[in-house]
Amino acid sequence: MTESATFKHGDTELELPFVEAAQGNDGYDISKLLATTGNVTLDPGFVNTASCSSAITFIDGNAGVLQYRGYPIEQLASQATFLETSYLLIYGQLPTADELADFEHKVSDRMLLDERMRELYRMFPRGAHPMQVLSAGIMALGAFNRDNLDPHDDAQVEEATLRLIGSMPTLAAYAYKSSVGEPFMYPQKKLSYVENYLRLSFGTPVAEYEIDPAVVKAFETLFILHADHEQNCSTATVRMVGSSDANIYASMSAGVNALSGPLHGGANQAVLEMLVKLREDGLDAKTFMNQVKDKKSGVKLMGFGHRVYKNYDPRARIIKSHVDELLRNSSKSNALLDLALELEDTALSDEYFIERKLYPNVDFYTGLIYEAMGFPANYFTALFALGRLPGWIAQWREEHADPKRKIGRPRQIYIGETERDYVPITER
Ligand code: CMC
Repeated sequence: MTESATFKHGDTELELPFVEAAQGNDGYDISKLLATTGNVTLDPGFVNTASCSSAITFIDGNAGVLQYRGYPIEQLASQATFLETSYLLIYGQLPTADELADFEHKVSDRMLLDERMRELYRMFPRGAHPMQVLSAGIMALGAFNRDNLDPHDDAQVEEATLRLIGSMPTLAAYAYKSSVGEPFMYPQKKLSYVENYLRLSFGTPVAEYEIDPAVVKAFETLFILHADHEQNCSTATVRMVGSSDANIYASMSAGVNALSGPLHGGANQAVLEMLVKLREDGLDAKTFMNQVKDKKSGVKLMGFGHRVYKNYDPRARIIKSHVDELLRNSSKSNALLDLALELEDTALSDEYFIERKLYPNVDFYTGLIYEAMGFPANYFTALFALGRLPGWIAQWREEHADPKRKIGRPRQIYIGETERDYVPITER
């Protein structure tokens, strides 16, 4: 059907123009609804509402398909690098070898932070959550880059894009270093983006950091898998903040905050904590699953379910295929991996999960990998943020390039008190 729809209410009729998608859900344009009928739509959680048109990422949640700019995630994860994927998301096409070399060079030039930012990081208390520190770090980065805050100046936006991508590994690694009280390392120009990130996180001034190519490859893949996911909670937040003409640093910092919640990116931390607790309590998969199915318990199987995927999350499928190989040297993580595999098997054959089409999402297995690599659980979501940054930037730039852009300002249906008179405090 490529026809418009008609909305009828009493004597009022409104034609809702058909909006055709390149693939996936088509839509209806309801922008004249309020002016014509005096009424608004109500859609909690935006389950049915497209907040924008976008040419960046496509998901078919029923088929388990994810594409960046048309390229299947499986091809990018196995063949591209993270910076190549970032370029694709931000500029719309795969870079040539020269374009990629130029991009890598510019990003590498911006990994070193202003020295005073290191002082700032020293102020955070030991044990502060790295997502709080990362969000503050991105805001501070904006304060140190006051000459590229204007969202209407293309050259400034380009500089801020490179500055953010270049500085993010340093900011994320310093968030980790400050939480564990270790000295901060400086980035090195001779290292790649991911190599630098690993050395900034795990290197110390007292010993040479040995780079493991298998770990570098794993992180290239993991960051690519997280790089964009269309209009999820943090991306919608980035666009919402950006819509007010707030600068790009403020928007990215807001994205980090939205991502930190356990229903979104914070689920990777929550999954590991769930597995550790189950192991400590000696609870078997079946008993735990009964708790999950009992709505009164408030217990969820973290790392399962997704608003859009009603099939296996393709990102989880790719991660699962690497998990065995990456964890084979870690006996501790293998015990948790066995438990995760058991939970997945139990869930996938359980009527509750089948009926609701609940499958493992990207966060179900990532925590196990991060833990095996030595990251503490509360740092996992910062890794998600590092991966997601190019997607947020691409979405922010797409929003700003749209000539029909409007400030995001939802309506409401008011259900509070109607007008009443003020009562002086002595008479209440
Ligand atoms: N464990 C148990 N029941 C669940 C779960 C779960 N993980 N996820 C959904 N359900 C149930 C939910 O209770 C509801 O049941 P009923 O129809 O009886 O009320 C039904 O499945 C539909 O779920 P919903 O909460 O209406 O779905 P949603 O689209 O609003 O929420 C979600 C999606 C991801 C927030 C949710 O599935 C969830 O809380 N999952 C656990 C947290 C998690 O893993 N989050 C990471 C998401 S992927 C990474 C990212 O991009 O953020």
